[in-house]
Amino acid sequence: MSSTDFMQAGKDNLRHIAVIGAGYVGLPTAAILSHRGHFVTIAERDGARLEMLRQGASPIAESGLDEMLQEGIRTGHLRAVATAAEAVSGAEFVFLCVETPQAADGSADLSFIIGATTEIAEYLTDGAIIVNKSTVPLGTVELVERVIGRSDISVVSNPEFLREGRAIADSLNPDRVVVGAQNRDIATRVANLVSVTGAPVVITDATTSELIKYASNAFLATKLTFINTMARLCDAVGANVSDLVLGIGHDKRIGFDFLQPGPGWGGSCLPKDTSALLAIAESVGFDIEIVRAAIVGNEDQMNWVVDKIRIATGGTLDGRCIGVLGLTFKANTGDRRDSPAISITNRLVAQGATVRAFDPTVRRDSADALDLSHLEVYDDPYEALAGTHGIALLTEWPEFRDLDFERIRQCVTTPSIVDARNLLAAGPLRELGFSYTGIGRK
Ligand code: UGA
Repeated sequence: MSSTDFMQAGKDNLRHIAVIGAGYVGLPTAAILSHRGHFVTIAERDGARLEMLRQGASPIAESGLDEMLQEGIRTGHLRAVATAAEAVSGAEFVFLCVETPQAADGSADLSFIIGATTEIAEYLTDGAIIVNKSTVPLGTVELVERVIGRSDISVVSNPEFLREGRAIADSLNPDRVVVGAQNRDIATRVANLVSVTGAPVVITDATTSELIKYASNAFLATKLTFINTMARLCDAVGANVSDLVLGIGHDKRIGFDFLQPGPGWGGSCLPKDTSALLAIAESVGFDIEIVRAAIVGNEDQMNWVVDKIRIATGGTLDGRCIGVLGLTFKANTGDRRDSPAISITNRLVAQGATVRAFDPTVRRDSADALDLSHLEVYDDPYEALAGTHGIALLTEWPEFRDLDFERIRQCVTTPSIVDARNLLAAGPLRELGFSYTGIGRK
């Protein structure tokens, strides 16, 4: 962008923005800011992904993202470049959206944050504001300020709360916007840029903002372990967890969200962020027992599901063949990172079972490259389930409801289903001759 364009953009309240990192946070952020009319440059180091972006194609599957990227490329409001240094040239705001993977001790690994900030430091426009959207330990705003080492540059925390599979919808309609900075005027400038009509804005200091992100994910994880534990209790006492959710969820203080029991929670965020929060607390001599219990309870949940599959398969997994439906950590995403479905299939294989699996996002010819070589992956669900001694439904893909279970009944060796997502209707399956086991319900 030329400096004339940049001045024009500033005049119209449209900004020149850089986004570093084209992943699950960076891409939706760039797409939405360009959709709002800003001039956005996104940095992507991987050559193949960069080329896709330049064609307006998203390297990740998110509903509505391709359309927004295409719009941005077509109108010239979005462009993709290979280096962070190039992206930040002329940018008034720089969004850091790089990975913060889990380090060996459970804490967040900041090497990508430090790498990116070191790379951009000398190329930043005078007075630029760095907005950190990556999930980072407390004190990272100050760390980035130190790495940049320039008094004209401000650093702000603006945690992201979008869910995978709903990134665009969540970003267009957030429950709240959180901005944290030592300088309130700078925080307000960022809030004005990122806020959305109708969404409450919380402006706070940087440390509180960074902690809000971990507290949110830890609360959600704890809520899930709670309802999963209730499902186990329902099973033990013969109660029905679906009715229990209705009975407690109508209480507005509890609400219905995040009360769907399942095989355990996973994904790239909840497991990593709960461990990171424990590490943060430990560093100040504090143990958050409730979050520790939520993590332990999540392991218990996965083992409990494995037990259910073993019992449904006749008491042993050794030498049995299990048909697995779903491998992603939840439906509507191609992401299998820390997927409960993968953890459970690993445990089935460790107990001597063979696993034949189907997932709408995994193709057979790519299974080995995707580190799924311990499973037999099929492109067709009926082929995957043929000859199996039991079926385990582990991800709640809605299309599993539409499978022809009469046909499946004909091709399995033993008609048994463990529905770890309570997705299917038990009655019709039992009428077809299946033994049906749900989670916390008959
Ligand atoms: C999560 C948070 O929900 C987002 O707010 C946050 O921005 C994001 O992490 C992040 O930190 O980047 P996400 O990882 O996309 O989002 O996944 P969720 O939709 O939260 O699901 C997490 C796990 O909980 C999945 O395994 C899912 O199947 C499970 N889950 C969720 C249930 O078992 N039951 C529910 O009712 C909801």
